[in-house]
Amino acid sequence: MRDVAVIGIGLTEFGEKWDTSFRSLCVEAGAKALEDANLDGDQIDEMFVGNMSGGRFVLQEHIGALISDYSGLASTNHIPSTRTEAACASGGLAFRQAVTTVASGMQDIVIAAGVEKMTDVGGGETTDTLAGAADREWEGIYGVTFPALYAMIAQDYMHRYGLTREQLAQVAVKNHYNGARNPIAQFRKEISIEAVMRSTLVADPLRLLDCSPVTDGAAAVIVCPLERAKEFTDTPIQVLASTQATDTLSLHDRRDISTLDATVAAGNRAFDMAKLERKDIDFVEVHDCFTIAELCAIEDLGFCKKGEAGKLTEEGYTALDGDLPINPSGGLKACGHPVGATGVKQICEIVEQLRGEASGRQVANAEIGMSHNVGGTGATVVCNILRRA
Ligand code: COA
Repeated sequence: MRDVAVIGIGLTEFGEKWDTSFRSLCVEAGAKALEDANLDGDQIDEMFVGNMSGGRFVLQEHIGALISDYSGLASTNHIPSTRTEAACASGGLAFRQAVTTVASGMQDIVIAAGVEKMTDVGGGETTDTLAGAADREWEGIYGVTFPALYAMIAQDYMHRYGLTREQLAQVAVKNHYNGARNPIAQFRKEISIEAVMRSTLVADPLRLLDCSPVTDGAAAVIVCPLERAKEFTDTPIQVLASTQATDTLSLHDRRDISTLDATVAAGNRAFDMAKLERKDIDFVEVHDCFTIAELCAIEDLGFCKKGEAGKLTEEGYTALDGDLPINPSGGLKACGHPVGATGVKQICEIVEQLRGEASGRQVANAEIGMSHNVGGTGATVVCNILRRA
């Protein structure tokens, strides 16, 4: 296996992008990544595009060919282009496919993109489409929604570990503080614990400000063999690990509903592959689709014991200037969550941090960063560890 490095990144702004089409969003992110890597499009050997539900959000399937076409790479170079789908982990999967394709020696320069355009349909249809990431026959058919599934996790967790409502709210407060310093974030405003506690109840105990929003956006990352990276950039970022794990699709089939065993497995594999320990990680981008999900992720990745993450968050351990900054980008909560793009956006954030280009939200002395991207309630998890090369 060859060592792999990230040589270029590109992001659109996240938000409600009613004046931009699905394909334009993805091509914009890709063009920015090419420019960042000092590459021409015809130097790309292969493309992976993470997308959860183009078929329902914009009535478009066949996404791999579409993006290759509108990038100008289909009719000239006829490059292989493949859509990857694992619900909200579709982007993480695209990145992992790009990494494994280069690591195997099959291709040299590969682009991983992620895109979702969620705001062209109404709220009810969005919620129903997202419910497709759960088990339609055993969960969706009874009307369960994603906020409801994570609310059940939160109820179980609060009951067993004594998490307070204020501690849960602090996750959103921290992530909005970071997002306010991120120029691509959907919500660039700070919020208070009181604002979270007063916001509309969505699924008890989760309130509006505990939820990631509905978002349009795209992200792209270019990888190549580490030994060639200096041809394209002075600041290559090495991929030390890229791992994936699965679990039961239905929440009720889990051994323990507030522990994501796929996070435990993908996390352990990532630390083994990178030959690193938890204390070596400087910051983590975790999948905070709901505030409770961030607390579970910190624990399931092994950064603290089960039941401790709420207190650590309250004490500032996970803040931008804390011992282990979590979600310096603002996370899914403040940055927004265009579901197919999120996993790639997490890699872009890690690269910006490791290059020292994150300005107002820069993590001090960042050398090693980790990402954690979840599909559904944890049926797919992708983890990556990256280091300044
Ligand atoms: N965080 C902060 N503000 C939010 C928000 C969020 N998650 N969602 C909406 N808002 C804001 C909007 O900007 C709007 O503000 P404005 O009045 O100043 O313009 C206001 O709240 C109302 O927005 P609206 O779009 O009407 O909200 P909604 O009630 O239709 O949707 C949720 C709110 C929480 C139900 C929706 O964002 C949601 O379903 N989130 C979860 C998405 C999800 O499940 N993703 C997959 C995770 S695995």
